[in-house]
Amino acid sequence: MTAFDTDRVVIVGAGIAGLTAALTLAPRRVLVISPAPLGQGAGSAWAQGGVAAAVGPGDTPEAHARDTVAAGAGVVRPDVALHIVGAAGEMIETLAGLGTPFDRDEAGQFLLNREAAHAVARVVRVQGDQAGRAIMTALVRAVRAQPSVQVMEGAFAERLYLDKGHVCGVWLAPEGARPVLVRTPAVILAGGGAAGLYAATTNPPAIRGQMLGMAARAGAQIADAEFVQFHPTAIDTGGIGTLPLATEALRGAGAVLIDSEGRRIMEGRHDLADLAPRDIVARAVFACHRAGGRPMLDTRGALGQRLLRDFPTVAEGCAKAGIDPVTHPIPVVPAAHYHMGGIAVDVRGRSSLPGLWACGEAAHTGMHGANRLASNGLLEALVLGRAAARDVAGQVPETPAGPVDLCFAPGGAVLPAAAIDGLRAVMSAEVGVLRAGGGLRRALSRIAALETEASEADSFLNMTAAATLIAAAALCRMESRGAHFRTDLPDSDPAQARSVRMTLTEALSH
Ligand code: SIN
Repeated sequence: MTAFDTDRVVIVGAGIAGLTAALTLAPRRVLVISPAPLGQGAGSAWAQGGVAAAVGPGDTPEAHARDTVAAGAGVVRPDVALHIVGAAGEMIETLAGLGTPFDRDEAGQFLLNREAAHAVARVVRVQGDQAGRAIMTALVRAVRAQPSVQVMEGAFAERLYLDKGHVCGVWLAPEGARPVLVRTPAVILAGGGAAGLYAATTNPPAIRGQMLGMAARAGAQIADAEFVQFHPTAIDTGGIGTLPLATEALRGAGAVLIDSEGRRIMEGRHDLADLAPRDIVARAVFACHRAGGRPMLDTRGALGQRLLRDFPTVAEGCAKAGIDPVTHPIPVVPAAHYHMGGIAVDVRGRSSLPGLWACGEAAHTGMHGANRLASNGLLEALVLGRAAARDVAGQVPETPAGPVDLCFAPGGAVLPAAAIDGLRAVMSAEVGVLRAGGGLRRALSRIAALETEASEADSFLNMTAAATLIAAAALCRMESRGAHFRTDLPDSDPAQARSVRMTLTEALSH
């Protein structure tokens, strides 16, 4: 066994949560594992809306927490929601201090986007729809300038190493290389969610539940894995895989969903119409799509030419798909977007396993419930990234640590591309926007078969573990709630309005 001992804290993932944790721990030495070159490949950079924060005139953290709880369909922890939204103003100031160029008016007040199910415009933005990219640019710059942070680019974390139930290390490798064990006193998992387990996603395709799967395989408790959010307005390019997003802020600015006959899709379905909670809009768009009605987002009346200036990322996505949004409505389709479920943690980011912390989309704090409110994801990533780092600093004594210098040998497993496609196909068909008991059982046996066929790659086992947990939790939730909709059990059951934790062993017993 090749092993390396370090006292550096190992942070797996280099998105907003991971980099915030790394900067918070400074000057304490950390090792950040980034599967792609720093700043690329993280889902955070793709976030268009921005960061939800009650910084506008008359807005309050209490009002923000109320909207968060309402959107979460009965399973948000109100104390956690209030705790996290209460830190929003401070986090925005920190990001501004790092050079994030938030949009402001001439008086220096934030310009705010409105998104679905927020009672007011509350989303702090950058150049309209470029918040994720701009925040990542500021964090990457700060990390590059921070000598305490060592970044290992192009490597993956494959498996956690436990000793007597305590996480004491992590196996790392570039793809195709033999993994090397890095023993460390603390691991923070911050490598994103699970949306890439689906055939159509708004996420970078490599984000496929690996953090969740790795923690679950080590025995960690996973909470509410069934709650996967589908974004109603991914741009329908006619293909599958990663689809460009048409941000909800477009509907906040007045754009409307129509079918091929020009009829409003959301009219009469919810009081908030096009700004109804995301799960409701996603199901309506899905139904229209399935019925052959070609759902489209019509920005022409509300934005017209202004879309090109105010939403440059959307304009770019449309241009690549050959769509002119100034003259034509944008064809849209729901796509997997965000995992509300995750590694169960408290507000310090502590998981159920000693030595393991998690933050960002990989983690489940109880803030998002069954349906995350738009732009609360980046907020939670910032607040939990900082909290996990502070907790690690208080728990794990600091000792001097030199750079981690690993040498990888070829001969490791490569990812089974066909099996990954199979996994994504079954997740979309049976564990997607609509689910039912029979389909979920079929999904569990198909996932098990894929695992048997292609089990030599640890990274693939992390994906199948995550997929198993999502399907098993969906089977166990005998009702519909938020983003989890069962056609065989279409009503919500007040007796099931609670968060549920599960281990991988429990999930495999279904
Ligand atoms: C969007 O801009 O529509 C997505 C924002 C989010 O999911 O938080």
